[in-house]
Amino acid sequence: MDKLLIQGGVPLAGEIRVSGAKNAALPLMCAALLTEDELTLSNVPHLRDVSTMVRLLSQMGVEVSLDDRLGLSLRAARLSNPTAPYELVKTMRASILVLGPLVARCGEARVSLPGGCAIGTRPVDLHIKGLEALGAEISVEQGYISAKAKRLKGARLVMDLVTVTGTENLMMAACLAEGTTVIENAAREPEVADLAQCLTAMGARIRGAGSDVVTVDGVARLRGASHRIMADRIETGTFLAAAAATGGSVTLHGANPGTLEAVLEKLRESGAEVRAGDGTIALAMRDRPRGVNVRTAPYPAFPTDMQAQLMALDAIADGTGVITETIFENRFMHALEMQRLGADIEISGNTAVVHGVRQLQGANVMATDLRASASLVIAGLVAEGETRIDRIYHLDRGYECIEEKLAQLGARIRRVT
Ligand code: EPZ
Repeated sequence: MDKLLIQGGVPLAGEIRVSGAKNAALPLMCAALLTEDELTLSNVPHLRDVSTMVRLLSQMGVEVSLDDRLGLSLRAARLSNPTAPYELVKTMRASILVLGPLVARCGEARVSLPGGCAIGTRPVDLHIKGLEALGAEISVEQGYISAKAKRLKGARLVMDLVTVTGTENLMMAACLAEGTTVIENAAREPEVADLAQCLTAMGARIRGAGSDVVTVDGVARLRGASHRIMADRIETGTFLAAAAATGGSVTLHGANPGTLEAVLEKLRESGAEVRAGDGTIALAMRDRPRGVNVRTAPYPAFPTDMQAQLMALDAIADGTGVITETIFENRFMHALEMQRLGADIEISGNTAVVHGVRQLQGANVMATDLRASASLVIAGLVAEGETRIDRIYHLDRGYECIEEKLAQLGARIRRVT
């Protein structure tokens, strides 16, 4: 199994390009299920999860191909098998995003329950509840969700809590429903708005995406379209946090500063100089970072997917940072691994108190989930000596060519099998 070896102590410097967003690409690929025409996606991040989604859609009958610019062409002319099997779903929870489009387009779907996850229980009850409110008959047997509906009917949905893929699933289903659907307490994440933009190009009638009330007037059919996937705000934030932690100076191209304001604010609070331009973000950290407090919450607040990376920054900062995780109940696994590198972190419930230390020491650590592995990469870049990170397949799920990009910024990093 691949591992990463990092020789720490080098301030990151230089320029790189940000990739397309994983958490936008996955729902956008599922949108192809809503039409028999071709959907073409550009700025596609070539990640493990994107390959898994290609396999999932292909086994349903979707024709998927890569164009010469590594864009994706998807055509769901005939869906012979509206099923998402356990073998694929267990490797990628986002597979649940096929449920809404399949039942809306085919009138039936059979999707494996995603099961447990390292960062929390992560149920999909709100996806099911929302589809039932749209008129789907749903049963759960032998670990599979079976959904049936002649044609979904528009309804007013008040979400018990903010769910990103729940909002995306229901918004997609509502596009082909009869009548109007209103989703209240909807997720406002930029990936939801990016999906709505593509659906609108396909002929959907959506208002309010990006706000907490989304209205969808259903139509009889959708057509093909072309869409450029938004920049990955979490990959952007990860590289900026790495630059800040190593005392570096970097410029990121192809970024969208407007989608990660809360993160840029925290980096400024830690003492970084951050300059946001049109499509670029430059960051320089000249002194030792200051400890910052972080509380995760739905967008536009501080994203839970950047919590671990900020913890790595606080671990070597001057002072103390208090980190409160309000979205997932088990998202501090990285703290235990960082303690192996000499970090001073106390955990109590959903709060971690990080007492910054002057120096971390390289050691062997293990990645437990995608963002935890990114935080260990940052800690390894700062630590004295060599850090070895095991189980980096987690990293490959969400970061495109991370070690090549870091090496471009001067990092001493390599992958070994
Ligand atoms: C999306 O997951 C992202 N994944 C996650 O990114 C991200 O951490 C999360 O949103 C929060 O921002 C994708 O977009 C593919 P939620 P999602 O439904 O939609 C509870 C990464 O690192 N909940 O918004 O699955 C749930 O347990 C990943 O890239 C229910 O109780 O998250 C959680 O506590 C990790 N019932 C909260 O809501 C439901 O039916 C928010 O989860 C649905 C969710």
